[in-house]
Amino acid sequence: MEIVIFGAGSLGSLVGGLLAREHEVTLVGRDDHVTAVRRNGLRVEGALEATVAPRATTDGTALAADLAVVTVKSYDTRRAADTLASGRFDAVLSLQNGMGSEAILADVLDEPVLAGTASYGAILREPGVVECTGVGDVVLGDRCGGRSTVADRVGEALRSAGLETTVSESMPRRLWEKLAVNAAINPVTALTATENAAVLEDPAADLARGAARETARVARAEGVELSNREALAATERVAEETAANTSSMRQDVLAERRTEIDAINGYILERAAERGLEVPTNRTLAALVRAWEQGRNLR
Ligand code: PAF
Repeated sequence: MEIVIFGAGSLGSLVGGLLAREHEVTLVGRDDHVTAVRRNGLRVEGALEATVAPRATTDGTALAADLAVVTVKSYDTRRAADTLASGRFDAVLSLQNGMGSEAILADVLDEPVLAGTASYGAILREPGVVECTGVGDVVLGDRCGGRSTVADRVGEALRSAGLETTVSESMPRRLWEKLAVNAAINPVTALTATENAAVLEDPAADLARGAARETARVARAEGVELSNREALAATERVAEETAANTSSMRQDVLAERRTEIDAINGYILERAAERGLEVPTNRTLAALVRAWEQGRNLR
């Protein structure tokens, strides 16, 4: 299968590198990374290892492929959608953190847009080198739920390249579950300068559990069946699987980049306000990260 990875940062490079073991992959990324991949290939190291030679470009316009996997930051989704609209794909799969990206992509693109979550830990160590810091899984399917033959085909392509993949008929629930995981792990590790394992131990565990529980409550108010127990279990499982990982939000803070707080805890705040629910842990975490961004003129 021909696959474009739109947004070859940490996760995009890991997923692209693993897919390139089986498929014809094109990475769309930043100049220094693209130059290194063109020169020496892409090295995947850590929990999974591979050296592959995908195509790489900084120009994402007018590309054609069977599948486009979108891995840009949530706040770049609209721009990514506009660029992807100049190309031709059979399907588009979002593997982004946070909520709302699939809807933006589907608004702009004619192609079927699948929702997906990825819980692999990944860090772009240097241009051309990505480290897998935790073997997680990919869950994908129709963004509104239900059976999808496109999702079955894409799921098979990912599986054939060795990615742990589940095709789900209940993506809305899966997206809320992943939102709970990100709401619990990402701001806590970013604000406390810790790796994901920190949320397994008190005092950070208490904070993370609070964020996950509140997320499950908002999900249920939205008509999505996600129990507190399931949200907590998913958070614990991902934190264990990616214990050594530097979460993407912590990576953003370390690089002094804007974070995905608006699409994660910020999204929970918005949905909670509409339903008249209090989410004090998410409110505090979002305020702290937003204050950090504001202090650096990143907002
Ligand atoms: O955003 C992240 O860092 C990742 O989604 C995850 C799975 C929490 C691993 O760190």
